[in-house]
Amino acid sequence: MTDLTFAFTEAERLPAADRDAILENPGFGDHFTDHMVSITWTKDAGWHDARVMPYGPIAMDPASSVLHYGQEIFEGLKAYRRADGSIVTFRPEENARRLNESATRLALPQIPVELFVEATKQLVAVDAEWVPSGADQSLYIRPFMIADESFLGVRAAQRARFMVIASPAGPYFSGGVKPVSIWLSQDFARAGHGGTGAAKCGGNYAASLLPQNVAAENGCQQVLFTDADNPDVIDELGGMNLFLVRGDSTLVTPALNGNILPGITRKSLIQLAQDRGYAVEERAVTVTEWREGVADGSIVEAFACGTAAVITPIGQLKSPDFTIDFGDRAPGEFTLSLREELTGIQYGSREDRHGWLEEI
Ligand code: PLP
Ligand code: COI
Repeated sequence: MTDLTFAFTEAERLPAADRDAILENPGFGDHFTDHMVSITWTKDAGWHDARVMPYGPIAMDPASSVLHYGQEIFEGLKAYRRADGSIVTFRPEENARRLNESATRLALPQIPVELFVEATKQLVAVDAEWVPSGADQSLYIRPFMIADESFLGVRAAQRARFMVIASPAGPYFSGGVKPVSIWLSQDFARAGHGGTGAAKCGGNYAASLLPQNVAAENGCQQVLFTDADNPDVIDELGGMNLFLVRGDSTLVTPALNGNILPGITRKSLIQLAQDRGYAVEERAVTVTEWREGVADGSIVEAFACGTAAVITPIGQLKSPDFTIDFGDRAPGEFTLSLREELTGIQYGSREDRHGWLEEI
C-alpha cells in the first residue's frame, strides 16, 4: 500500500458492444481503455496529485523538457484473464524496479515500488472489462514517466509526471507462433558502452526505427543489434532479448553487459530453464558462433523473448551478406514447450511456483 490516495474521475465508458468488438480482434497498441493514471512529481513536493481519470489527451507546455531532450522512460507489462475470470499481472515489482533503474540513468525521480504497483492495479481494476479472454490475449499496460518542466536549459527537470495507460492486445506478431525473420544490423548500433542501452527510454527506440525500416525492406520483422565496437557480438533485438538453444541442454544468452535491456521475460525463462535442469550461459555470444553452431548441429533453436513478443521462434537470420534458415523455419520443440510453460503460469493453467503473479 501507499499513503497517496488516488482521486477518481469516472470516464464516459465506451459502450460494451463497441468494446467487445475491439476485444474480438484487438491488434497491438491500437486501442486504449477508458481510464488512465497520472501522478505528478516536483522536486519540492515529491509525488503527489495521484489520479485515475478519463483516458485522453494531456495538455503540455511546448517547452516541456521531454519534447526537447527526450527525458522519458517507460515500462511494459501485461494483465491476464484466467479461466475462472480472475485477473493477474506478472512480476510488476520487477517492472517498477527496472523503471527506477531507467530513472537513475535518465536523471528522473525514483517512484516507490508500491506506488507503481498500486497505480497499475488501480487502472486494471477500473478497466477490468477491457482485459480480453481470448487465446494469447491480454491487457498490455504501459507505465511511463516524462519530464514536463517548462524550461529549455539542459539539466534534469524538476517536474515530472508518471502515467499509466492500457491497451488490449493480441499477439505482437501476426500469424500466431510463427517463426520470425531477423535482420542483422551492423551499420547501426542501438547502444554503446556507457550509453542508455540498459535503460528503457524512448530515445533507444527512436534510434531503432531506421534500422527497423531497413529490416522491413528486407522482409524481416525485427532487427538484431550487435555491439557498437564489435559487430560480431550480439546484443539483442529492437524490442526483445535473444536466446540460443544448444542440443546439449544448454541455453545461451547475451550477458547483461550494460548495453542490453534486462528483460523480465529473459530472467523468468532463465529460471524456468534451470528448473528443468538446463544449464544457462550468460556471456558474450557471437554471430559466428551462432552460424557455426547451426552448421554443425550444436545449436538447434533460437528464440526472441519479451513481454510483447512472449517467446517468438526465430526462423531466419538475414544480412546483406548471407541468409540462414533455421530448422526449415519451423518453431523448435524446446521453444514451444518453454512458451507453453510461461503462458501456462500467466493464464493459470500451471502452478505459479515462484510467486510471480499479482492478483488484481
Ligand atoms: N529488450 C528490449 C529492447 C525491449 O524493448 C524489451 C521489451 O520490453 C525486452 C528486451 C524484453 O523485456 P521484458 O521481457 O521485460 O518485456
Ligand atoms: C515490451 O515488450 O513491453 C516492449 O516494450 C517492446 C515493444 C516492442 C512493444
